[in-house]
Amino acid sequence: MEHFKALLLSKGEQGQTAEWVELGLDDLMEGDVLIRVSHSSINYKDGLAVTGKAPIARRYPLIPGIDLAGTVERSDHPSFNAGDEVVITGREIGESHHGGYAQMARVPGDWIVAKPENMSLAQTMAVGTAGFTAMLSVMALERHDVTPDKGPVLVTGAAGGVGSTSVVLLSKLGYEVHASTGRLQEGGYLKDLGAVELVDRNTLSEPGKPLQAERWAGAIDSVGSHTLANVLAQTKFGGTVTACGLAQGADLKMTVMPFILRNVTLAGINSGPIPRDRRVEAWRRLGQELDLDKLDAMTSIRKLDDIFELADEITHGRVRGRMVLEVD
Ligand SMILES: NC(=O)c1ccc[n+]([C@@H]2O[C@H](COP(=O)([O-])OP(=O)(O)OC[C@H]3O[C@@H](n4cnc5c(N)ncnc54)[C@H](OP(=O)(O)O)[C@@H]3O)[C@@H](O)[C@H]2O)c1
Repeated sequence: MEHFKALLLSKGEQGQTAEWVELGLDDLMEGDVLIRVSHSSINYKDGLAVTGKAPIARRYPLIPGIDLAGTVERSDHPSFNAGDEVVITGREIGESHHGGYAQMARVPGDWIVAKPENMSLAQTMAVGTAGFTAMLSVMALERHDVTPDKGPVLVTGAAGGVGSTSVVLLSKLGYEVHASTGRLQEGGYLKDLGAVELVDRNTLSEPGKPLQAERWAGAIDSVGSHTLANVLAQTKFGGTVTACGLAQGADLKMTVMPFILRNVTLAGINSGPIPRDRRVEAWRRLGQELDLDKLDAMTSIRKLDDIFELADEITHGRVRGRMVLEVD
């Protein structure tokens, strides 16, 4: 495909604009692997990039989309051949390197992961950066000895992408999963994914005391702000909380008390620059441990053409689970 359709972000005097354009292969950036993109996805970060609500694009013009999956057309990289089905989440795509909202992509082969055998390309995008981050968060809890016998584990932002995937992964691994959500009407959905108890997110979203009753052995937080502070204040002695997101806010006003009196650990997660061996290991585990029926149940398939509507929805917290975008 010499010419292809792409969404292009540009910056002018009026600020950022986003428009559909036709590009040629020469418009793509450096890389040793050319991919025909079949699917992408929308993450919270993509919503911010497309709406321009936060400065996600680090160069212009830029094709957004931090996830893509597709088939290799041409490769000068030793690990990949034409016809291979491949996946990229994060790294620099959709931020400083052209991303997944186009029919073609050219990327450095070191960013690519082979598609897990048991998943379709669409299912890898149902995982996407959100699900990959959920897996990294689970692996961080495990590294800090938060095992299922230690007690319940909380997932915040549970009806969102990171949250829903975290609920599915943790319940499969035998954890007692508590799900914090502002959408209590989605209780049936969250229980079907594996949550055993629902927590009204309003009970966590206001400033609270430095130390509160101990409730959870660990938590996966994608919300930040007062929610993260309260979760840390309610974490049991020796527990660990992972922090990957800022859906409520980037602020974190709290005291050191959970750390110095309860040995609580706060583990940061940034899925972008994860070293290759851990990236491959996370995808290997997603392939083996993610319940694909539950993944399908939390996924909606949409067209890339719907991106403007979806970007608006996800930045208002109205997307449930994960959205896969059909590109080709
Ligand atoms: N560090 C990383 O590598 C990394 C990777 C992926 C995502 N993230 C971050 O993680 C967060 C979630 O991403 P996502 O793709 O899962 O987004 P998402 O699908 O929109 O999920 C976010 C969820 O957060 C909850 N939420 C929204 N606004 C809130 C508020 N004001 N107060 C409390 N809760 C609120 C909602 O869940 P309920 O309706 O259930 O309450 C919403 O569904 C984002 O901040 C994203 O940037 C970071």
